Amino acid sequence: MFLHFLVLGAFVLHSECYFSEEIYPEESQIQLPTVVIAILARNTAHSLPYYLGALERLNYPKDRITVWAATDHNVDNTTAILKEWLTVMQQFYHYVEWRPMEQPTSYAGEMGPKHWPNSRYEYVMKLKQSALDFARKRWADYILYADTDNILTNPETLNLLIAENKSAIAPMLDSQGAYSNYWCGITPQGYYRRTAEYFPTRHRHRLGCYPVPMIHSTFLLDLRKEGMKNLAFFPPHEDYSWPYDDIIVFAFSCRAAEVQMYLINKERYGYVNVPPKPQHTLEDDRLNFVHVHLESMIFGPPMQHSKYVHMFQKQRDLMGFDEIYLINLRRRDDRRDRMLFSLNELEIDVKVVDAVDGNALNSSDIKILGVDLLPGYYDPFSGRTLTKGEVGCFLSHFFIWKEIVELQMDKALVLEDDVRFQANFKRRALRLMEEVEQEDLDWDIIYFGRKQVNPAKEKPVENVHNLVMADYSYWTLSYAISLQGAQKLLNAEPLSKMLPVDEFLPIMYDKHPNEDYKSHFPNRSLQAYSTHPLLVQPCQYAGDPDWVSDTETSTLWDDDAVRTDWRGSHKTLKGASPPPLSAAYKDEL
Ligand SMILES: *[C@@H]1O[C@H](CO)[C@@H](O)[C@H](O)[C@H]1NC(C)=O
Ligand SMILES: *[C@@H]1O[C@H](CO)[C@@H](O)[C@H](O)[C@H]1NC(C)=O
Ligand SMILES: *[C@@H]1O[C@H](CO)[C@@H](O)[C@H](O)[C@H]1NC(C)=O
Ligand SMILES: *[C@@H]1O[C@H](CO)[C@@H](O)[C@H](O)[C@H]1NC(C)=O
Repeated sequence: MFLHFLVLGAFVLHSECYFSEEIYPEESQIQLPTVVIAILARNTAHSLPYYLGALERLNYPKDRITVWAATDHNVDNTTAILKEWLTVMQQFYHYVEWRPMEQPTSYAGEMGPKHWPNSRYEYVMKLKQSALDFARKRWADYILYADTDNILTNPETLNLLIAENKSAIAPMLDSQGAYSNYWCGITPQGYYRRTAEYFPTRHRHRLGCYPVPMIHSTFLLDLRKEGMKNLAFFPPHEDYSWPYDDIIVFAFSCRAAEVQMYLINKERYGYVNVPPKPQHTLEDDRLNFVHVHLESMIFGPPMQHSKYVHMFQKQRDLMGFDEIYLINLRRRDDRRDRMLFSLNELEIDVKVVDAVDGNALNSSDIKILGVDLLPGYYDPFSGRTLTKGEVGCFLSHFFIWKEIVELQMDKALVLEDDVRFQANFKRRALRLMEEVEQEDLDWDIIYFGRKQVNPAKEKPVENVHNLVMADYSYWTLSYAISLQGAQKLLNAEPLSKMLPVDEFLPIMYDKHPNEDYKSHFPNRSLQAYSTHPLLVQPCQYAGDPDWVSDTETSTLWDDDAVRTDWRGSHKTLKGASPPPLSAAYKDEL
C-alpha cells in the first residue's frame, strides 16, 4: 500500500511537469581533454618540491590528468620526495603510474651526476618513449613532458598551450640567463644555430606563437592529431645521423613526420634552470636553482613548493661578518619579505633595521638630530636639493656605522632592501672576503652593489679576483664596511653637512668630481673598493613603469608644507639600463 502510494505520487508529479511548461535538464558540459603528465626525475631534490608545487597548482581538473612518473640513477633524495608526493596526490589524479628504479645510481661511463654519456641519452629516450606509448595505449588526448627543474609558475600554462591547438608546442621558459627551452635555428648537422629571432623572442620584444625547429624540456603533444602517430623518441628515425641526444632525436622525428614544433611567449609561464656543465656537481646545480628561484620572485609569480613535501630548515650564517644589516622601510614590507625570503634561500642571516622614514621626519626632528644641508648642495641633473627620503636614508646608514663602532665590530655587511642577487652570491662573496683577508688588504669599504660611472677607469686589485679600486659612483645598494671605515665616516661628522649618502661616500674616498663639496670634508682617506662584476644589482631601473625610489621621490627635506614628487630623478639613473640577460652568467660557476 505504501509503495503504491509512492509510485502514484511520482506519477502525479511527473504528469504535472509534462502538462505545464516543459523543463528538461540541460545537456551537460563536455569534459576537458585527458592529459598524461610525464615526469622523468633524476637528481633534482632541490627543485622537485617547487616543480611538484607548480604541477599541483595547474588550473586543470586533476581527474582528467594521469601522472606517469619515472625516477632512476639517483644519488640524492629524489625518489623519496616523489614518492611522498605521489602517495598523497594519487587520490586526486585519474591515475598514477609509478616507475622508480633504485639501482644503479649512475650510468656506465658517467663522470658525475650532471654528465651525459650516450648510455644516459639512450635511457632517457627510452623512458620518454615509454611515457608516449603509455599515453597512446590509454588514448590520452595530450601528453605533457616537463623536466623536473622546469617550474611552471603560471597555473594557466596547460590551458594556454591547449588553446593554441598545435601538435607540438612549448611555453617559453625564463631562466637566469639567455637560455631557454627552444631554438630558432638548427644546423644541417642538427646542432644549435644562432639566429636573429632568438633574442627578440627571448626578451619578448615580439610576442606570439612561432614555428621553431626545436622545443624541449617542457612541451605538449596533441595525440589526437593524425601526424602524431609517427613520432618517436626511440629508436631514432632510420635516416637519423644527427647527434645522439634525446631532444635532437625528437626534433628530427617531428621533422620527418612533418609535425611542426611551436613556441609561445605571450606570457610568463615559468622557469628553466640553466643546464649545468658536465663537470658540475649537484651543489652547483642547486645554487643555479636558488638563483633562478630568486629571480622568479622579482618578476612574479614566485615559485611555491608543494605542501605535501617535507621541507628542511635552512642553515643560515653571517658569512664571516659580525653583522649583516638589511635596511628596510617599515612600510615597504613587500620588499622586506622578498629580501628575507631570498636571504633565507641563500642561507644568510640578517638583522633587519627599520630605516628612518624621511616622510615621517619633521623640521624639529631634523634640528634635534643636528642635520643640516651641505652648503651649496644641489643635484646637478634635476637642480633639486635634498629630499626627506634622502635624509632618512643617510640617517639609516649613519646609525649602522655608529653601531659598528659602538660594538667594535670587525666588519659588517649592509644591504638595502631592493637588491637583486648575482648568481652564486654567497659563494662569490665568501671567496672574495677570503682573498681580501689572505692579501691583508687594508680596506674601509667594499661595494657589493652600486651604479658605476666610469667602470673603465677602475684598476683591478692585484691578487684578489673580481675586486677593483672604486671610482666615483652612485647608490649604496650594498657594501662591506670595516670598523676603521665606519670610524672614518663618523669622524667626518656628516650630519651637519648632509648630502645624499651615495654622494658622501665618493667624497670620503676622494673620487667625487665636485671640489666644492669635497672642501667641507678635509680628511678623505677612506679606502674604497668594489666588486667587479658587482654582486648585487638594483631590482628595478628607471624607465621600468613601476619604478619608485623611496629616497628620490619623497618631499623636500626641511619643509613640512611642501609635497614634491621627484619621481624618476635624473641623477642616479642617468644612463642606467638593465644588464643584458646573460651578464649574470658570464663568468665562472
Ligand atoms: C628525503 O625525503 C623524504 C621525504 O621528503 C624525507 O622524509 C627524508 O627525511 C629525506 N631524507 C634526506 C636525507 O634528506
Ligand atoms: C584545431 O586544429 C585542427 C587541425 O589540426 C582543426 O581541424 C580544428 O578545427 C582546430 N580546432 C579549433 C577549435 O580551432
Ligand atoms: C615632530 O614629530 C615629533 C614626533 O616624531 C613630535 O613629537 C613633534 O611635536 C613634531 N614637531 C612638529 C613641529 O610638528
Ligand atoms: C684623518 O684620518 C686619519 C684616519 O682616520 C687620522 O689618523 C687623522 O688624524 C685624520 N686627520 C685629521 C686632520 O683629522
